[in-house]
Amino acid sequence: MIRFATIHDVPEIQRIVNSHAELGKMLFKSYAELYENLRAFAVFERDGKVVGCVALGLIWADLAEVRSLAVDDNYRGQGIGKALVQWCIADARRLEIRKLMSLTYEKTFFEKLGFKVVEKDTLPLKVWSDCVKCPKNDNCDEIAMVHELADVKVIDAPNAHPTPKGLSIRVLQGMTSA
Ligand SMILES: CC(C)(COP(=O)(O)OP(=O)(O)OC[C@H]1O[C@@H](n2cnc3c(N)ncnc32)[C@H](O)[C@@H]1OP(=O)(O)O)[C@@H](O)C(=O)NCCC(=O)NCCS
Repeated sequence: MIRFATIHDVPEIQRIVNSHAELGKMLFKSYAELYENLRAFAVFERDGKVVGCVALGLIWADLAEVRSLAVDDNYRGQGIGKALVQWCIADARRLEIRKLMSLTYEKTFFEKLGFKVVEKDTLPLKVWSDCVKCPKNDNCDEIAMVHELADVKVIDAPNAHPTPKGLSIRVLQGMTSA
């Protein structure tokens, strides 16, 4: 069963996310970050236990990001990750957001869900705001993938500036300290 997360789910969400973060697969999440973004989170519950989570972050009028996707190691390979991404797709459709993106190492998994690899510098600068928290910093080896929902109408939104070519995280750090 997938449902929106509640405040009671935060310890389990953190346990699952951080267990993968320890292996370098995603970013660590603090309680403060999880509380702040809890409205965006859904959890997969099995037998009363939270065994997976995901968050749909809004980037722009036509772009949302699949974030913090994680499945408890003991429950992987059972279709839970797929169901959580499908929940994000349904939520993007509800919000009438046409494109979903992911920064990931799980290319095949996302391809099976309709995502396609794109050049990182086609994504708006705002996507990279989390990079300052990433130990890989400007040696990012994640793959950028996008899934476009053809049935959601194109919105006449202001342009999000794409990432400048050759952007380094030091540029972002300079911007945040300015
Ligand atoms: C990636 C992850 C979310 C997948 O969740 P899961 O519940 O194990 O995946 P599912 O069982 O839903 O798999 C769905 C499909 O993808 C395939 N798949 C899953 N992981 C895969 C992988 N690492 N490589 C290739 N295919 C994979 C499955 O075989 C399945 O294929 P099918 O539909 O043809 O049967 C999970 O392994 C995980 O939590 N990984 C660590 C954290 C992480 O990397 N998160 C992604 C951050 S963007």
